[in-house]
Parts: sequence; C-alpha cells; structure tokens
Amino acid sequence: MGSGIGQWLLCRAEDGSLSLFSLVVPPGAHTPVHDHLAWGLVGLYRGTQDEEIYAHRGSTLELVERRSLDAGDFYVLIPPRDDIHRVSTTSVETSVSIHLLTNDTGCVWRHAYNPSTGQAEPFRSGYVNVACSDDSEN
Ligand SMILES: [Fe+2]
Repeated sequence: MGSGIGQWLLCRAEDGSLSLFSLVVPPGAHTPVHDHLAWGLVGLYRGTQDEEIYAHRGSTLELVERRSLDAGDFYVLIPPRDDIHRVSTTSVETSVSIHLLTNDTGCVWRHAYNPSTGQAEPFRSGYVNVACSDDSEN
C-alpha cells in the first residue's frame, strides 16, 4: 500500500467469504482513500489513528466525518454508506488494527479515490505474508 503500510493476513475462508487481517501503519503514514466492497468490523489494537469517512456526492467525494481512535475502539464498515475511508496513524508508535471483512479484502479488486476529484482507480492492497491466488497472472 506504500508508505511502509502492511496488511497481514491472519485467517481467511477458502471460498473468499471472510478474512481476518491486521493493518500496520507507521507514524504519520496514511492509507489511500479506499473502499472495501464488503461489511466489516475494525478494532484498533495499538496506537492511535484518525479515520476520515467519505461519501459519494454525484461524481465527487465529500468528507462527511472525521474521528479519532484509541486502542480498544472499534467501528463498522457497511457499504455503500460507510465503506469509503482513509486511516492515518497519529501516535508516535506504529498503529495496528484488526479487521474482519466479509470478503478476501487483500485480494479483491476494489477502489482507491482521489479525494479532491472523486476519481476512482482500481486498487488491490494485497497481503504482506500471503499471495493472492491469481498473483502469477499479473
Ligand atoms: Fe479500510
């Protein structure tokens, strides 16, 4: 994902219907604005983060909420309304969050967005420790 950010798979269903992974974000780094295309639960295990939630407004994106997270906080991802966000680490230590999603999030093609224009690009985060089944085709 760039900026030293790593997504580590902990467990996934063989049929791609569920994945459990950690997201490791160094201090000062932030993910792209992205979607997940699946509902999920996210809990912050270590560090602090800011989460920015975006919504489609016609062809653009609007920042609709910003919240600060401490270790122990959790939130839900429910598409399409609460599925687009960006996560930044605000602590001096690397943040680690645990994600349970109803797809194989690291391997599905989803979208990264330019928050200024709303333009979407194909986005696949991958996993640091596990390949996707079609990696050899890329
Ligand atoms: Fe996310």
